[in-house]
Amino acid sequence: MRLMDHTRLPLWEAALAHTAASGIRLHLPGHGGGPGLPPELQRLCPEYASFDLTELPGLDDLHDPAGPILEAEEMAASLWQARRSFYLVNGSTAGVLAMVLATCDPGDILLLPRNAHLSAYHALILSGARPAYLPVATDGQGFPLNVTAAAVEQALARYPAAKALLVTSPSYFGVCADLTAIAAATCRHGVHLLLDEAHGSHLDFHPEMPAPGRNASMRVQSWHKTLGALTPGAVLHLHCEQYEQARLRAALRWVQTSSPSYPLLLSLDAVRKRMALSGRALFDELYQNAAYLRGKLRTELPLLEREALKEAGFDLDILRVTILCGAAGIDGRQAAYLLAQRGVNVELAQKGILLLVAGPGLSRSDAVKVVRAFDGLPQKQVPAVFDCLPEPLVAVLPREAAFAPQEPVLLARAEGRISASLVAAFPPGIPVLAPGETVTRPVIDYLAAASDAGMVLRGLEPQGKLRVVCEGV
Ligand SMILES: Cc1ncc(COP(=O)(O)O)c(C=O)c1O
Repeated sequence: MRLMDHTRLPLWEAALAHTAASGIRLHLPGHGGGPGLPPELQRLCPEYASFDLTELPGLDDLHDPAGPILEAEEMAASLWQARRSFYLVNGSTAGVLAMVLATCDPGDILLLPRNAHLSAYHALILSGARPAYLPVATDGQGFPLNVTAAAVEQALARYPAAKALLVTSPSYFGVCADLTAIAAATCRHGVHLLLDEAHGSHLDFHPEMPAPGRNASMRVQSWHKTLGALTPGAVLHLHCEQYEQARLRAALRWVQTSSPSYPLLLSLDAVRKRMALSGRALFDELYQNAAYLRGKLRTELPLLEREALKEAGFDLDILRVTILCGAAGIDGRQAAYLLAQRGVNVELAQKGILLLVAGPGLSRSDAVKVVRAFDGLPQKQVPAVFDCLPEPLVAVLPREAAFAPQEPVLLARAEGRISASLVAAFPPGIPVLAPGETVTRPVIDYLAAASDAGMVLRGLEPQGKLRVVCEGV
């Protein structure tokens, strides 16, 4: 790790110098540092507005940094042990898009497991890459875990021309793939490993946590999700020494605003400093609080457990507490309603699962209150909610389907047509159909059964219609 003075805040220093010196602002943004804001906003964020700056002299340029932004990014790179880090003002969404756009030419094969975030499917549309999907392993009840190293090996053997593999680890539920084995396999085949580490920015700071993805060619992290940055502050770390940076820089320009939010960039600067100076202590305490919470909850409720996942070749970030409440006869949505009345708001509530996210703000006394709120939740029969997802059948490239003439048809009458939409059932939220895929009978049956079971279907139009590609065009 390069030695750096992590007590410094290069971007803050530049912004403070600018605000101390500035008078009447006859430049963008038009609110002039506050006076031009509507009264509600003036009351809400008087200080914030004076730091809502733009690329003014001394404040650098996110898209071509040479001053304090570059310095701040270099400090992040030293801390996360990257060759180069790029601050993102459009979330990990922008990072995933840029990784794919920078790596894949139109028609190139991108390997990706089906649990990829929506931004990966959008990257397929924008880049014109050809997807080859890897299966996502499940537990005994069909709960989605992550991709296995064996599935990666098989895909690499089957698609020797693949350009890159995109993996999401940790998953939304904190399940981590075996990145050491996966990176070794991609390295052997000369394929780039693109890592969506949106949920794992903190893993570098605690030895008891699952291993972070420093062995990827590049990785993106949502610092707003786990480190306390402002939404949607995120970072892309480039690790691969051979990777040509020019295309990556261009791709970042393609997907990000030309008016980056300075308060958001300042929040990234501050997060980097905090993680450098006290990240280990912060996450030590949080780790203990999460372990306490899990220990108390598991006496009454089944949890997704680290030991069981390790036995299956995965790992778990214990700060994600997935409660498999359906197995205990508790309806997650009803439970979430009662918990909210008791002052506890959960991240995700579905029929059979509740997800709690322990973030840097969770104190031990909060954890104690959460445990108490779980006392005496009503039990009833809850049907099993997970089922094996049908195999995707890719007919045309996602990009072709997305730009083709389309029409809505009733799902029940869509067999054999090519979907123009992405349709997912929650839980588990993994796409059942993506643009360019043939609508098969198992897909129709799965979606009908999911709807009957009260699962939420996203991606359909009113009256359950599906947008499909027009025939004979
Ligand atoms: C796995 C994963 N990747 C990427 C993203 C996008 O992150 P952001 O909200 O920072 O754009 C999300 C968002 O929830 C996600 O869950």
